[in-house]
Amino acid sequence: MPAAEAAQWPCREFPYTEGDFRRAAELIFRRAGISLSSAKQDLVYSRLVRRLRECRLGSFSEYLDLVESGDAAELQAFTNALTTNLTAFFREEHHFEILVKHLQSLARDVPISIWCAASSTGEEAYSIAMAAVECFGGFKVPLRIVASDIDTQVLERAQAGVYTADRIERLSTERVRRFFLRGTGSQQGMVRVRDELRALVRFEQLNLLSPDWAVKGPFDAIFCRNVLIYFDKATQATVLRRMAPLMHPHGLLFIGHSESLFHVAEVFTLQGRTVYNLTGTRATSAASSRRSALAVAPFGALRG
Ligand SMILES: C[S@@+](CC[C@H](N)C(=O)[O-])C[C@H]1O[C@@H](n2cnc3c(N)ncnc32)[C@H](O)[C@@H]1O
Repeated sequence: MPAAEAAQWPCREFPYTEGDFRRAAELIFRRAGISLSSAKQDLVYSRLVRRLRECRLGSFSEYLDLVESGDAAELQAFTNALTTNLTAFFREEHHFEILVKHLQSLARDVPISIWCAASSTGEEAYSIAMAAVECFGGFKVPLRIVASDIDTQVLERAQAGVYTADRIERLSTERVRRFFLRGTGSQQGMVRVRDELRALVRFEQLNLLSPDWAVKGPFDAIFCRNVLIYFDKATQATVLRRMAPLMHPHGLLFIGHSESLFHVAEVFTLQGRTVYNLTGTRATSAASSRRSALAVAPFGALRG
């Protein structure tokens, strides 16, 4: 490391230069679309330092060589380390009220399909399922939710559906009783999502940047919340333009509270608080638009 560069950096366990940071930032941008400003230099160090220890490497540049060498497992571990997975049950609660009204407007004789496109540890997808069960009055809901994320570690946790009890502290007693089991013995302090609820959600890995998405619409709703903020505007626009054809004409797109879609106004139009529908959608009833779309793209395609 040149002396001038070394002087800028505090004493750390492993050598880490500004060049290393730029290299890591470039790698995660290419892999996941995550755009890291130079203010994130310390964050990148703290997120990756454990990988260096586990791989028994002596510097960031050696570690980045490994990630770039084509080692798929390490590239995934690198990606998992750099994603931010903050989430909660019924986060931005007003969206679930809008979702329930939307579900009520749909024909009951056609299965409902929802995509939760950056599901993290699963709380969002399970909240969608809980809202639907409450709306339809039981677990026999004509509904499939596909929930995806790029991060394999959070997907494992989502699939298991096991959380620390504090994660459901703000839910009503009724919701807790209906949708969760409390752990005992070694599982004391933990809760698990009931199997009937888990059965409504299918988790799978999907990189929003990848050219081949394994999900097929048409969807009645897409939740793409609090992930666009990590992308630059061009990446956001590419992802959103690809989502539009996967939606029913009446479909709703939910995004995060600090996100907006003004730059893709030709595709999505604001309908409510960070809820959008397709621009220029004909004002057909939800029920009839679902039936005509299903005539060309059956629900079964979701599994393809
Ligand atoms: C802050 S969490 C949002 C979780 C949830 N949607 C919510 O609003 O509570 C962002 C999630 O986006 C995922 N993510 C980041 N880049 C992604 C990409 N290129 N493709 C798919 N998921 C991505 C991260 O792994 C992370 O779990």
